[in-house]
Amino acid sequence: MTKGHAGKIAVISGAASGIGQAMAVRLAEDGVDIAIADLQPADETVRRITALGRRAISRSCDVSDPQDVQRFADHILRELGRCDILINNAGFFKTRKFEDLTIADWRRTMAVNLDSMFLMTQAFIGGMRERKWGRIVNVASNSLGSVSPNHVDYIASKGGVVGFTRALASEMGVDGITVNAISPGLTRTPGTLEGQFRPRGLPIEQAFDVVSQAQAIKRHQTPDDLVGVVSFLTSDDAAFMSGQTLIVDGGLVRV
Ligand SMILES: NC(=O)c1ccc[n+]([C@@H]2O[C@H](COP(=O)([O-])OP(=O)(O)OC[C@H]3O[C@@H](n4cnc5c(N)ncnc54)[C@H](O)[C@@H]3O)[C@@H](O)[C@H]2O)c1
Repeated sequence: MTKGHAGKIAVISGAASGIGQAMAVRLAEDGVDIAIADLQPADETVRRITALGRRAISRSCDVSDPQDVQRFADHILRELGRCDILINNAGFFKTRKFEDLTIADWRRTMAVNLDSMFLMTQAFIGGMRERKWGRIVNVASNSLGSVSPNHVDYIASKGGVVGFTRALASEMGVDGITVNAISPGLTRTPGTLEGQFRPRGLPIEQAFDVVSQAQAIKRHQTPDDLVGVVSFLTSDDAAFMSGQTLIVDGGLVRV
């Protein structure tokens, strides 16, 4: 039994797919009702949450767009009354040589991966402050600490996520709100498997094999490897932990 989850409401971005979907289902198992902001329909996630007896609302929202986020927040606060837990997970990654990146590419990456966290947090922080309880978890990436060519925009945005997490934590602790980040390693999700993503310059399946051999735990990482940490960070057990970035990547050995 997790402490402090029963009856809480979580907002999770990007929970139609991959890591966000697994986190949403786990928090529902912990007793949390879930609101999802995603560009694509989250029917499968909603189905899995309602099968667990929890409430789930999904609404189309581009989390990089200030007006879309405001509309989403108004709707969720009207329907569910509040947001106790905010998981800023939505993000995207593309493999592009630095010289091929345009300023428009750069700005889109920053908007989706970093502006989104600013916008979503501003939209929901007021209620957490009033109730003197809140949990914010931002999804960063272990690529910050590894050799990962052709992802400069992505890694720069995730560096921003870690800085945002630390700085925000220092303003929120006074009101019982913790802010932490999780840095996953290379994880099997639609985002990694269905795109033109080439970590370490390798085709994706080869990249999974190479990366997993460099990990202490020698298997491919899946979204379910991340859910225990998000459950802990959003529980009462983690009430004294804030501003941290937890790396969950199978103990990747960095050279
Ligand atoms: N999979 C990995 O190897 C890995 C590793 C480290 C970090 N991450 C991070 O984990 C998070 C989730 O990644 P994933 O692998 O599950 O990806 P995914 O592509 O499978 O899922 C991402 C979800 O975010 C949604 N999304 C994208 N842009 C959006 C926007 N502007 N507004 C609303 N929703 C949007 C997508 O529709 C999708 O449902 C991302 O922040 C990613 O950077 C992933």
